[in-house]
Amino acid sequence: MFERLEALPPDPILGVTAAYRADPDPGKIDLGVGVYRDETGNTPIPAAVREAESRLLASQPTKTYIGPAGNLEFNLRIVEMALGTDLAASLKERTATIQTVGGCGALRIGAELLRAATPDTVIHVSDPTWANHEPLVGSSGLSLRRYPYYDAPSHAVDFDRLLQHLERLPPGGVVLLHACCHNPTGADLDAAQWAAVAELLERRGLIPFVDLAYQGFADDPEADVAGLRLIARRVPTLLLAISCSKNFGLYRERAGALAVVASNAATARAIETHQARTARRMYSMPPDHGAAIAARLLCDASLRAAWLSELASMVARMKALRALLAGRLAARRPDRDFSWLVSHRGMFSLLGIDATQVARLREQEHVYVPPDGRINVAGVSEDNVDRVADAILRVADTP
Ligand code: LMR
Repeated sequence: MFERLEALPPDPILGVTAAYRADPDPGKIDLGVGVYRDETGNTPIPAAVREAESRLLASQPTKTYIGPAGNLEFNLRIVEMALGTDLAASLKERTATIQTVGGCGALRIGAELLRAATPDTVIHVSDPTWANHEPLVGSSGLSLRRYPYYDAPSHAVDFDRLLQHLERLPPGGVVLLHACCHNPTGADLDAAQWAAVAELLERRGLIPFVDLAYQGFADDPEADVAGLRLIARRVPTLLLAISCSKNFGLYRERAGALAVVASNAATARAIETHQARTARRMYSMPPDHGAAIAARLLCDASLRAAWLSELASMVARMKALRALLAGRLAARRPDRDFSWLVSHRGMFSLLGIDATQVARLREQEHVYVPPDGRINVAGVSEDNVDRVADAILRVADTP
């Protein structure tokens, strides 16, 4: 039966972790998968999240089924966190939310909904985008195209080309946007650019599908969603995929949500039924544990405040690591500009090296990054920064 199947190549991101683990070199450095790391290299569970989990375990009366829409308190709170309490309240009747299996589940259910509504929908993704966006969203059967996003030589958003491209898309096209901490480039839109995109989406009748995987990882949870909120105030229809993996440190619990803002309340109620049916047919209902932890934390003012301060420390550390690495690179090559590393936001930047150089980085330097040359700055530390800087320059300087 399965003899026809041939082994597949490793996943571009998860395969990096497997290759890193298999390397016996004691000096190996993992700058691959997008997880936050502390100075010891551990990916911590924030103390406030741990406390919310303890309280949950101590008080949970049952583990009976909850239903395809998942934890309703979580759905409410997580959308409030994304949109802000006032905007979430004003859009509540027009919003259909389902808890999902992480942010990936949200992206996939969103794509399935779009396909159910209009099978010839085209989803436009940034060039480049997260390595799993196209496989994940494309598995719905919808067509995908790329829009210009990044100017590699300047390490910045190529905004003029982006805008010109979106301007020409036919109405009804879906535009997948990264709310903040663009993956893999680290280059985000600024406030004026978000405003221009919001105006264009509204005027051209395009539908934003916003991937919010890093709320709180760029500057803080409010500032990071300013662009998203601008869009949500203007357009009649919006899809929002939310992940709790990074900001809550709940990676393996797979906590996420898909919120769809529809043009009217009746449509939103219909969407809820389609969301539930899609989930039922794919996996029946999402795992509760991570969402229940996040809901508990968000409902408790003191846990929430403690968590926000832990999140702020993580952001401060990532910014400091960016400055540290840029400084060490600049000290070695004073003729070159590495300030882009500091201006990027979140965990990622693109080094601007090709797949051959990435292979050399792995084989000769024992430094592990995905094939697109993305670096996870959270994997840099005071201990390894000099080795990282030397390795990058040795590889980058040899084509
Ligand atoms: C990443 O981009 O490394 C993370 O989002 C993890 C993943 O699933 O790819």
